[in-house]
Amino acid sequence: MTFAISKTASQIAPFRVMKILAQAKALQAQGRDIIHMEIGEPDFASPSCVHQAAQNAAEQGLTHYTATLGLPALREKLAQFYDGFYHAKVNAEQLVITPGSSSALQLVLTAILNPGEQVLMADPTYPCNRQFVHLLHGEVYSVPVTADSQYQLTLDHLKQHWNPQIKAVMVASPANPTGTLIEQAELLKMAQFLAQRDTYFIVDEIYQGLVYERPAESILAHQNLPQNVVVINSFSKFFGMTGWRLGWCVVPEHLIDVLDRLGQNLYLSAPTLSQYGALAVLESDALTELEQRRQIFQQRRNRLYAAMQSAGFTLKTLPQGAFYLYWDVSEYTQDSERFCAALLQQTGVAITPGTDFGKEAGKSHVRLAYTNDRIEEAVQRIQGFVEQYR
Ligand SMILES: Cc1ncc(COP(=O)(O)O)c(C=O)c1O
Repeated sequence: MTFAISKTASQIAPFRVMKILAQAKALQAQGRDIIHMEIGEPDFASPSCVHQAAQNAAEQGLTHYTATLGLPALREKLAQFYDGFYHAKVNAEQLVITPGSSSALQLVLTAILNPGEQVLMADPTYPCNRQFVHLLHGEVYSVPVTADSQYQLTLDHLKQHWNPQIKAVMVASPANPTGTLIEQAELLKMAQFLAQRDTYFIVDEIYQGLVYERPAESILAHQNLPQNVVVINSFSKFFGMTGWRLGWCVVPEHLIDVLDRLGQNLYLSAPTLSQYGALAVLESDALTELEQRRQIFQQRRNRLYAAMQSAGFTLKTLPQGAFYLYWDVSEYTQDSERFCAALLQQTGVAITPGTDFGKEAGKSHVRLAYTNDRIEEAVQRIQGFVEQYR
């Protein structure tokens, strides 16, 4: 007798970075010196005010479910945060708190997508987005993008590829795996183009706040934004709270009720203690600490870029945000998975193959995360490693 899993589940691709992470940890357990540049999360602990607030909430017995849409005080506080941080007027009603932005992405796609409908996204993209669409029996419409457009979708791409089957377009700015941005003026034009075609525009701003040489920006700062725009965000990256599993989305009014109903069924509420922790991070002066961390990431980006350049590596883009550098390794290999596995085995530097993020150029690209401070040493090891490919 065989106990089969569903066809849908059997088609879900693994997140390869987790495999590299497991291999790296196994080598570390054998005593090898590993430099982790595969992990897409800040190496800093979450701010201490978060720990304190969660502990206080637990001690006060605040350990029950919250409203599905989130603690009213947190939604209110986030609305104020949008005003102060992004100069964006957001109604607290439109803010939906979720278990990580991963849930926000799933909720929003579940709310809008019918089987067979298409979701347009760039190749490379955040890999889970493709899997969310597959789970809903939708179709992924991938548009290969290159360094010419900073590996981002543009209005021209939309004009070229839009068709009536496309229900939504997904972008991230800054993006994973490239750390590149879409300029606000372009984002607005894209939103308007799609609104005229009854197509949703899902803008993932999870790496906002972690941007360099420019202020944090949200598409929500535009006035008279069309009703097709959904913004995704999270406490994971800028706030350094990955393990607290807390995110949110800002949705047009007509989606609030359906997201509430979906959330009620899928998870009841986001983790309560995390919501109290998040409330504290927005209320306290943790923002000063987070700004210092942002500056450290900016210095690391500069150090990584400079070290790669002095090692003679060609870099096609200077990442403007997040903590990733997307590197074209086509002069060495067309098999990025093998390249990353060999690099890890031979040098102990763990990086992520581009195949996680896209088909088109994934085999000839890799992602380096500067979520580790041993940057120059890592580049030195990589430089020694690529000699064998020259
Ligand atoms: C672009 C992007 N969106 C969403 C997520 C999901 O993050 P979380 O569920 O921790 O909020 C990630 C995680 O790496 C990401 O890179």
